[in-house]
Amino acid sequence: MRTNPGGGLAPEEVVGRDALIAELWDKLERHGVMMTAERRMGKTSVLRKMLAQQPPGVTAFYWDLENIRSPETLVREIFNKVSEDLGNSQKWQGKVQQLLKNWGLGGEKIAGVSLPKPDLTWQQHLQGMVQDLSAQVADRERWLFLFDELPLAIDNIRQDQGASSAMEVLDTLRMIRQDYPQIRMVYTGSIGLHHVVAELRKQGYRNAPTNDLPPVEVEPLAEYDAWKLAQDLLMGEKVATADLSAVSQSIASAVDGNAFYIHHCVARLKGMAQSIDVPQVEAMLKAAVRQYDVWDLGYFEKRIGSYYGENAKLALLALDELAPESALTFGDWWNRVSIQIPDLDKEAFRSTLNLLEQDHYICRNDAGAYRFRFSLVQRYWHQQRGN
Ligand SMILES: Nc1ncnc2c1ncn2[C@@H]1O[C@H](COP(=O)(O)OP(=O)(O)O)[C@@H](O)[C@H]1O
Ligand SMILES: [Mg+2]
Repeated sequence: MRTNPGGGLAPEEVVGRDALIAELWDKLERHGVMMTAERRMGKTSVLRKMLAQQPPGVTAFYWDLENIRSPETLVREIFNKVSEDLGNSQKWQGKVQQLLKNWGLGGEKIAGVSLPKPDLTWQQHLQGMVQDLSAQVADRERWLFLFDELPLAIDNIRQDQGASSAMEVLDTLRMIRQDYPQIRMVYTGSIGLHHVVAELRKQGYRNAPTNDLPPVEVEPLAEYDAWKLAQDLLMGEKVATADLSAVSQSIASAVDGNAFYIHHCVARLKGMAQSIDVPQVEAMLKAAVRQYDVWDLGYFEKRIGSYYGENAKLALLALDELAPESALTFGDWWNRVSIQIPDLDKEAFRSTLNLLEQDHYICRNDAGAYRFRFSLVQRYWHQQRGN
C-alpha cells in the first residue's frame, strides 16, 4: 500500500474498522447516529467502507456537505444524489423513475439557484420528495442518509443566510427522521456540532436537534490494525528497516494508532537514505514536531481561537500548563492556571475543560486526573508553545 495522508481512500484501502462498522450497522437498525471524532481520525473513510458493504435491505446515500452555504443548495444536492443513485439502480427502476420525473428529476442535475417547483419552499420540496419516495420503501427496508461535514454546512448557512435558516435546516431534518422511520441519518464532520449549536443558542435557539442521534465515537485504529497499516505502508513504499515488525510497532504507538499520522510518518521515513530502526523513528518524530503546523497539527491551536470565544486565552493557557505533565488533577491544574489569570471564575475553568474534553484535546485517566488525549498532539503542543 502507498502513503496517501489525507487523500480519499478506496474502500479496500481502509484498514480495520470492522468492529466499528458492525456496531454502526447494528445501531442503524434502530436509530440514526452522530459519528464524532477528531479531524483526520478516519470518519469519512469509515463511511466509504460502509457504502461498499451495505447489508441487504439498506440503500445508502453519501453527501460531502462542506461547500453547502444555503438550504436550497442542500436540498438540490440531496435531490441530485438521490436521482443519480436511483437512476443507476436496477432495483429502483420503474415507479420510482416516474416519481423522480414528477419532481423534475429527469436525470439531469438541478443546477443554478432554484429548485424544480418554484411555487414550493425548500422545506416543501424536501418533505414532499421524502414523503413520495419513502412510500416506495418497504417497512423493513432502510434508507440511509450519510451527511458528512454537516456541522460545517450548518455553520456556513448561519453565516450566509442567518441563524434562523440554519435552525430551520436542523429542525426540518429532525422532523423527517421523526415522520419517516424508514429513513435513518448519520451526521458527522470535523467541527463538533456542539460549537455550531452553541452559536445558534446565542441567537435564541432552544431545540434539541440531535437528541435522537446517539453519539458513536470513532477511535484511533485498534492496535493490530495500526501496526498492520504501518507495516503495509513501509512495505508498499519499499522503506528498508532493521526490523519491520518493531519499526511498525513504534510508529503505530508513537501516533496513538492514528492512521493519518501513520501515513505521514511512513511518507517521511521514505525519504531517508539509511535502513530505519526504532531510534530513527523517534528522531524523525522529534524533528517533525519542531516544524510549525506539521501534518496539520497547528489546527489544534487555531481551532481554539475560532471556537472558544472569550475563553480562548484560558483554554490555551490551561493546555500550556498540561503539556509538560503526564497528568494533572483538577485541583492542581486550577491552582496553576488561576494564579496566572486574575479573577478567573472556577465555573468558566470547569466548562472550558468540558469543552476541551468534548473536542478530544484531553481525557481523564483511571484516577480521574486530566491528560492529553493524544500523545502526538501533546508532543507538538509542548514543542511549539513550551517556552
Ligand atoms: N482505516 C484507515 N486505513 C488507512 N488509512 C486511513 C484510515 N482512516 C484514515 N486513514 C488516513 O487518514 C486520512 C484521513 O482520514 P479521513 O477518513 O478523511 O478522516 P476524517 O474524515 O475523520 O477527517 C486518510 O486520507 C488516510 O490517509
Ligand atoms: Mg472527513
